[in-house]
Amino acid sequence: MITIAIANQKGGVGKTTLTREMSACCALRGFQTLVVDCDPQGNLTSSLVDPDVYEATLSHVLIEPEAPGGVKTEPLPLDDAIVESPIENLDLIPADIRLARFEMQPDYLTHRLRNQLREHASSYDLVFIDCPPQLGKLLTSALYSADFVLIPCAADAMGLHGLSDLSFTIEQVRKNVNSDLRMLGAVINLYKPQRNLSAESRSAVESAIRYVGYVFDTNLHDYSKVAEAPSQKLPVVLYAKTHRAADQLWSLTDEVLDRLEMPRQKLTAVK
Ligand SMILES: Nc1ncnc2c1ncn2[C@@H]1O[C@H](COP(=O)(O)OP(=O)(O)O)[C@@H](O)[C@H]1O
Ligand SMILES: [Mg+2]
Repeated sequence: MITIAIANQKGGVGKTTLTREMSACCALRGFQTLVVDCDPQGNLTSSLVDPDVYEATLSHVLIEPEAPGGVKTEPLPLDDAIVESPIENLDLIPADIRLARFEMQPDYLTHRLRNQLREHASSYDLVFIDCPPQLGKLLTSALYSADFVLIPCAADAMGLHGLSDLSFTIEQVRKNVNSDLRMLGAVINLYKPQRNLSAESRSAVESAIRYVGYVFDTNLHDYSKVAEAPSQKLPVVLYAKTHRAADQLWSLTDEVLDRLEMPRQKLTAVK
């Protein structure tokens, strides 16, 4: 099991998009993949499944339920919240707004996601975690659970704000709880080819290298197909198979798997 947190405390930079697309591509390449929605907005969840296919969510796994009389009881084990997605080899732990309460929970629960993943998700080849857009306990939990962190940044001046705060948070997590956490790299998203080599895009790359250390060669361009796919509950590589956005996502998948030192396809034994 290799766990990758997709993080950036800025909203709208493509965390949920990249989490969905990378996890779907890896699943389609044959890897057993689990994707964890760690954002109370639940956008990843609603882009993959209908609300009637699940009852338990990540909040049921991470938050101690209050029983009548104020007695705390054990949260659910993580495997009780795993649901199948419509994509082969891809399972999901859903989230909704109730997960927001995690920020008010006691500190010892910050360890629970990591422990539960180790106990119940070790049979997956890859686990992707979609992180929330703020520096709080949920993000710390996700970073504590992860082997690698992947950072999407938007290719504009606004998209760069906060990369230094994020790298500070990652450093703190590394120092205090998870010294094994490694930076996988930054992905430049929402790239506008017509503004090729614009000062903004250049500074996006330079800033990401400064704070993150590595930038993937593949940029994800701003394509309407990418924004449309979630409403169809499909990843771009299935929704718009022949579109350039799909080519870019496959080439990013190759780069990610190469950096993880994994094969580009899971070879299954021939019977
Ligand atoms: N490469 C892209 N091209 C077009 N739209 C995109 C692209 N990446 C993300 N989006 C859209 O931008 C919005 C924000 O993306 P999202 O992945 O939800 O960001 P975050 O999770 O960081 O808040 C969404 O509506 C998404 O569909
Ligand atoms: Mg999101």
